[in-house]
Parts: sequence; C-alpha cells; structure tokens
Amino acid sequence: MKNDRSRISVEFLGKRAATPLVLPAGIMGMTWSGMKYTWENGCGIITSKSLTMEPRKGHAGPVIAEFEGGMLNCMGLCNPGIEEGLAEVNEFRKFYEVPVIVSIFATTIDDFLTLTQKVNESRGDFVELNLSCPNVSDEYGLPLAASKIKVAEIVSAVKMVSKIPVIAKLSPNVSGLTEICTAAEAAGADALCLINTLGPGMLIDIDLQRSVLSNRTGGMSGPCVKPVALRAVFEAYSRVKIPIIGTGGVSNGRDAVEMLMAGASLVGVGSALYEGGIGIFEQINQDILTYMDQYGYGTITDIPRLEKM
Ligand code: SIN
Repeated sequence: MKNDRSRISVEFLGKRAATPLVLPAGIMGMTWSGMKYTWENGCGIITSKSLTMEPRKGHAGPVIAEFEGGMLNCMGLCNPGIEEGLAEVNEFRKFYEVPVIVSIFATTIDDFLTLTQKVNESRGDFVELNLSCPNVSDEYGLPLAASKIKVAEIVSAVKMVSKIPVIAKLSPNVSGLTEICTAAEAAGADALCLINTLGPGMLIDIDLQRSVLSNRTGGMSGPCVKPVALRAVFEAYSRVKIPIIGTGGVSNGRDAVEMLMAGASLVGVGSALYEGGIGIFEQINQDILTYMDQYGYGTITDIPRLEKM
C-alpha cells in the first residue's frame, strides 16, 4: 500500500495521469526527448512549449535571471513554430501513453483557430491557450487574459473547432481574476491553468549599471510566487466547477499538497527544476505519498480541499 503509485494517479478530463504533476509550458517541453525524460522521472502530464504560427527566436540573452526569491524570465516565446512543435509531440506520443497538453499562443482569433485545427490533427491530448505571456507586450500589447471579454471570445471560438479539451492559461497580473476565470468557464473552457508568471519584475546589475535581463523586465516565478498562485487557485476553485491545474512556486511535496488543498486537480512544477534538477518530480511524488500515509489518506483525492469562500 505504502508505495503504491496508483494512489497518486489522477483522472483529468478523461485521461489518466500517472502522477498529479504537470510540466508547465516553456520548460523542457520543446523536444520529444525532453518530454520522455520528464515523464521517465515522475511527471504525469507534459505541456509543450507555447507554439506559434511561425517559429520565433524570442528575446536575445540574458533571458533568465535568478534572485533570492525565485527567478525572472523574458524568453519571448521562442519556439520552433506549430509544425515542428507538433512533430515533436507526435514523435513522443507515438511511443508513450502519456497525456500531452499542446500550448498555443496567438494574438488573433483567426490564428488561434488555425493553430487549434493543426493541434486537432496531432496526437496532442489537450490544447492550452496561452492568453497570459507577460514578455511580449512590446509586440502585442496587454496579454489577452487581462480582458474577460477577449478571454471569452477566444475560448468560445476555439471550443467550436477543437476536437480535444481546451485549457485556458490565465494571468495573475490582472484585476478581477475570478471574473476572468468564470468568463472562461462560461465560454466553454474545460479546465483552467493558474497561474502564468507574476509581474513582470525587474533586476538591475549595479556594477554594469543596466537591467539584468535583455528585455529589461520578465515574468517572475519560483518560491516567491507561491502565495499568489495559491490565492488565485483557491479563489477560482471557489467559483468554477471545471478542474484547475495549479502552478506557481511549487518546490516540494508540502507545496504540492497546499496546491491540492487550494483546489487544484493537478500541480505544475516548473522553476523548481532549475534548483532541484529532474529528480524533483519523484521527490515531490514521494513527499505526497508520505503526507498521505501520515494522515491516513488512501488516494490523492482523499486529501481534503479547503472550504470554498
Ligand atoms: C516566454 O516565452 O516568454 C514565457 C512564456 C509565458 O510566460 O507564457
């Protein structure tokens, strides 16, 4: 019983995840070998890098900067484009029965629809709409997730064409996040992913007398964002019925259990990989099992959720 891994397996939108852990978009989900490596090391669901209509180089370096509370990134949606990105997903899914979320990014409904149609033809299991990247506002203006009207328009349009479940990835950098969550749900989203990076923030190198990141600012992740992520997940959980992937600042098993208690069905682990390495997934799985043993919970769904607001 103690180490029976089926105890932490999770049913998510009709697919079975071997563990509750999700690799969020942007981290190791660019190639089939990265996906394989992540899964082999205890991740239950893998998200691809956010894919765009055309390949994107992203911002020039430095694009990652660490600080005491976490890290900033200004990747700028570097990706090989939808065709090549889906080829990697297909290669992985051809051999492995592991659910993959295909993350897509666009700035118009038409492009979201074209991307979704391409995802329909792939082996991807879910499509995630990245409505919340904070690093491309110089090109595209405010993230779409800042407007509940735009979120609803895009989600409902995508739902009309998507053959697979649709996940809306939303931003914490907005006012009225719960209204945006309910708008996504009302428009037909099958699940939410909360949160994308916080901020953006900025770091300055006082010796070089310039910003550390090339793009000056970047989305903040790591332990410092966990309280914001928990609050966002809990507020959304209190208001929506669809499942939530809770991601933001999870670095150990206790953090993961907090995220589950806040109402998440699955838990994203991203920035912690930089500090903890690939072994972090298995460590968190084991920590969750230990916690379940400590409190006598047979399966992961026995871990209680907080009472809704
Ligand atoms: C990026 O590529 O800039 C990060 C992706 C995101 O925050 O959505």
